[in-house]
Amino acid sequence: MSTNSELIASAIRVTNLKKSVETQEGELTILKGINMDVKQGESVAILGPSGSGKSTLLGLLAALDTPTEGEIMLDGVGLSNLNEEQKAALRKQKVSFIFQSFMLVDTLTALENVMLPAELAGVNDAKTKAEQMLERVGLGHRLTHLPKQLSGGEQQRVAIARAFICEPKVLFADEPTGNLDSANGDKIADMLFALNQESDTTLVLVTHDLHLAKRCARQLTMDSGVLTETTESQAANEQDTTGQAVAAEAV
Ligand SMILES: Nc1ncnc2c1ncn2[C@@H]1O[C@H](COP(=O)(O)OP(=O)(O)O)[C@@H](O)[C@H]1O
Ligand SMILES: [Mg+2]
Repeated sequence: MSTNSELIASAIRVTNLKKSVETQEGELTILKGINMDVKQGESVAILGPSGSGKSTLLGLLAALDTPTEGEIMLDGVGLSNLNEEQKAALRKQKVSFIFQSFMLVDTLTALENVMLPAELAGVNDAKTKAEQMLERVGLGHRLTHLPKQLSGGEQQRVAIARAFICEPKVLFADEPTGNLDSANGDKIADMLFALNQESDTTLVLVTHDLHLAKRCARQLTMDSGVLTETTESQAANEQDTTGQAVAAEAV
């Protein structure tokens, strides 16, 4: 098995990644030397307490932010060698991101939001594809609604349809089921893993949902800017802190 995994190319390879920011109280080191290797087609969950650096890491991996130190290889391309324009082109080609705060365009309808990346990528039947994606996330009856006319969970599903439309090579998702009830959360998770399998999309998910994390091939834990493979006791701890949500799901 190890021989096999060595043969599969890395979708993401991170070496000694550090991120510091200036704050009023001085320099804050958010990430303290992250190393990780995610194979093409692999699914990885990142667990860990709030404020530990998970969203910061995801932003760096998706070339949305610049590290203080270290290197990220995305599908074989070193991000530190790229200028902003090249990074934008790489994102458009290979990466989708589901943000914790949705990041929908307020003035565009659900349908237009989902069409946008496909149009930018020059897809011909963007409208039909966008309608199909919205059907798939159960929003076929909300095509002409603006984001403010949708519930939080519905906005989350629009964001997910938008992330899927260009069949990204790597999909980053920051708490993709955080705003959904368990039935919709399961539906979204099913979609994520279907895409992962059908299109060999690499998935990197930040989640507090242990049930979702366990559906991933690997689980990592972020703790105060340090990333490690998750142990049983860390997973149990996570369950303690999110016990209510987990218990509610079990009902
Ligand atoms: N640009 C920034 N300036 C100052 N502090 C930041 C900045 N970005 C993140 N932080 C801080 O870094 C820590 C990690 O943030 P984040 O990556 O969002 O954590 P998580 O996603 O694990 O909850 C938090 O304490 C947050 O307040
Ligand atoms: Mg976060």
